[in-house]
Amino acid sequence: MSDLIAQLEELSAEAAAALATTQTTAESEAWYHEYLGRKGRMTAVLRGLGQLSPEQRPQVGKRANEIKQVLEQALAEHQEQIAADEMARVLAAEGIDVTMPGRRPQVGKLHPTNQAMRDIVHIFNQMGFQVFDSPEVETDDMNFGLLNFPLDHPAREMQDTFFTTTPDVILRTHTSPGQIHAMRKYAPEPIRVVLPGKCYRNEDVTARSEMMFYQVEGLAIGHNITFSDLKGTLLNFANQMYGEGRKIRFRKSYFPFTEPSVEVDVDCILCGGAGCRICKYTGWLEILGAGMVHPVVLRNGGYDPAIYSGFAFGMGIERQAMLKRGVDDIRLFYSNDVRFLERV
Ligand code: DAH
Repeated sequence: MSDLIAQLEELSAEAAAALATTQTTAESEAWYHEYLGRKGRMTAVLRGLGQLSPEQRPQVGKRANEIKQVLEQALAEHQEQIAADEMARVLAAEGIDVTMPGRRPQVGKLHPTNQAMRDIVHIFNQMGFQVFDSPEVETDDMNFGLLNFPLDHPAREMQDTFFTTTPDVILRTHTSPGQIHAMRKYAPEPIRVVLPGKCYRNEDVTARSEMMFYQVEGLAIGHNITFSDLKGTLLNFANQMYGEGRKIRFRKSYFPFTEPSVEVDVDCILCGGAGCRICKYTGWLEILGAGMVHPVVLRNGGYDPAIYSGFAFGMGIERQAMLKRGVDDIRLFYSNDVRFLERV
């Protein structure tokens, strides 16, 4: 019996030494077959078990199992090492340094125009205005005529409007034609809508004007809607958009589709009214145009001006973003300079 055990110990020592010399997975598999496999040397030694007495057999068998387990464990560890070495070789050959810090993923964010548009729409949503979609391509009548533009109004002249090859079909120069679409859809129901979207003007591109830009139009129509409703609505907007406690002022103005018409200013968000470069030392910043919907426009939309009244307003979205973020050139919005887009 001690003879068999001595043979096993010797075989175990030889096997352990042999395992250490294997360098590939295939070699280590071959090692397994040679020492531990069904036709391997361990099995061969254990054939001798038959000659032992029934009392001796379990002792030798037990030791054989222990040796087998230790060798199997050693094989598993050795194979892991082989795999790790192989990976390191591949990485080294390909010049990959796994300890190098990773590249930061570029995280995008909303374009400043979209951000401002969402802010504006959100504020009016809270006051019960719903978004109404209206087309960017309009008829001349929708864009001008039905909004009470006199035939000889300068905005109709060639330099302001992009025409199409289809007579009378143009790119809208403002979001106001959406007022007609909304009224015609809902008349004679009361409405409160905001209409955000792109507008086009055939103008020279400068720091102050782009040929494509965004506006948000607002329209409220119902019974007894007054100029105070317009004031309250716009004051609430200014306070939410530009900060609590902001003051607004109304200056008389002219738009064909509103009567009376006003332009609305907010006290300068930079100097608070003292006068600075941004407000050109006036203390005020113009933010939008507004007024009471002209009776002719109400009628064109399907509302009887004897029964209904309403207010409207329109603002440039980039302008709001520029004032809020201190940007002084509208061209930056659409020149795709990532440095600007990241900073703003
Ligand atoms: N449509 C005008 C523009 O583009 C802005 C405007 C002024 C819209 C007064 C209105 C308004 O609804 O009442 O300059």
